[in-house]
Amino acid sequence: MVFNSSYQWATLALAATAVAQTTTSCNPLKKTCSADTGLSQYRYNTDFTSGSLGRWNTTAGTVTTTDLGAKFTISEQGDAPTIESEFYIFFGHVDVKMRAANGTGVVSTWILESDDLDEIDWQISTWDTEVQTDYFGKGNTTSYDRGTTVTVSTPEETFHTYSIDWTSERIEWLLDGEVVRTLEYADALSGANYPQTPMRIRIGIWAGGDPDNSEGTIEWAGGETDYSTPMSMYVESVDIINYTPASAYKYTDKTGAYTSIKATNGTTATNLSSSNSSSIVASSKSSSSARASSSAYASSSASASASASAAASSIGVVSAASASYYCSGLTIAMVSFIVGMAQF
Ligand SMILES: *[C@@H]1O[C@H](CO)[C@@H](O)[C@H](O)[C@H]1NC(C)=O
Ligand SMILES: *[C@@H]1O[C@H](CO)[C@@H](O)[C@H](O)[C@H]1NC(C)=O
Ligand SMILES: *[C@@H]1O[C@H](CO)[C@@H](O)[C@H](O)[C@H]1NC(C)=O
Ligand SMILES: *[C@@H]1O[C@H](CO)[C@@H](O)[C@H](O)[C@H]1NC(C)=O
Ligand SMILES: *[C@@H]1O[C@H](CO)[C@@H](O)[C@H](O)[C@H]1NC(C)=O
Ligand SMILES: *[C@@H]1O[C@H](CO)[C@@H](O)[C@H](O)[C@H]1NC(C)=O
Repeated sequence: MVFNSSYQWATLALAATAVAQTTTSCNPLKKTCSADTGLSQYRYNTDFTSGSLGRWNTTAGTVTTTDLGAKFTISEQGDAPTIESEFYIFFGHVDVKMRAANGTGVVSTWILESDDLDEIDWQISTWDTEVQTDYFGKGNTTSYDRGTTVTVSTPEETFHTYSIDWTSERIEWLLDGEVVRTLEYADALSGANYPQTPMRIRIGIWAGGDPDNSEGTIEWAGGETDYSTPMSMYVESVDIINYTPASAYKYTDKTGAYTSIKATNGTTATNLSSSNSSSIVASSKSSSSARASSSAYASSSASASASASAAASSIGVVSAASASYYCSGLTIAMVSFIVGMAQF
């Protein structure tokens, strides 16, 4: 059916574009890297209408603050403004309240990503009411069935809250507080493809429909991007809970298993089950959130569980696709896909 074939294109292109993520300056599965800077507090909220970008670095293009929030604009070919958090979190809950850009082939996106290419995504293109969720473990691009679509109303007119609640046991994607997808650890190739290493948050906009992109990517993005009028995404706020507050995270071996991550100067005084995250945890409408977050915290310092060791031993070492997944408008996503495949 038409739907099926375009869906296949969508997942294929999504996987390709999403996995060819930005350079990982040091892949801890390949060599010894310096520790990641952690978010040492339990919560960090940014109100981008306040006029400041807070603890976010602009890594591409220009991002300004406006009354509607941080503004990311594509006005010509090659624009792909992006920000990322200065810090990493190790399991947590992130709410991004945003309005997607209105424009053919323009994708508004926010993702969690780690140094060894674990990744959890929201990708919002406005060609219809379908937005995509996706995930990757250790840069594994061999399977293209990880993406799903979620229906959202007028994403380019209305601010919606796109959330991820991430623990060692499961990942939930939430739309306006409702769980729309759950991924259990065991269902991600028995954990081998389960994102489980400290993540940075990255938010940006890119032109999947750039005429220089491959046909598949353009089709996935909803058509060729017309650069005649500027297209802007607005991010009003980002609310972060770090389930493992710490000043640094260190990979202690090359497995990429969460049990191998050592959190330094953790805020052990924080009792997650009693600290007041109730509003956000409750908004996930998931009674297991609080429990899961506590166990995530506990497991980060506890010894390896049988399933995690099994997962760790089956994890292959995968090198990073170095192309920017935002393409900078010029890099062709499918090239990244081929690069990804070639690694296997
Ligand atoms: C982000 O910005 C901070 C402060 O402006 C700076 O110290 C830090 O090195 C930057 N991080 C990256 C990854 O560029
Ligand atoms: C989005 O763009 C289309 C095509 O340019 C236009 O018809 C529509 O009114 C725009 N919608 C919004 C909410 O700006
Ligand atoms: C941990 O805290 C101690 C004391 O505040 C400090 O000297 C040390 O540098 C910190 N370690 C890291 C990795 O941040
Ligand atoms: C954390 O708080 C909960 C609820 O108040 C309590 O039952 C539990 O014993 C506390 N845990 C620790 C380690 O203090
Ligand atoms: C947590 O916050 C809610 C509302 O924000 C409040 O009603 C509740 O008393 C707080 N709980 C604690 C333990 O501080
Ligand atoms: C990558 O994932 C696929 C299935 O999603 C799996 O068959 C394959 O073994 C994985 N590769 C590695 C290196 O783990």
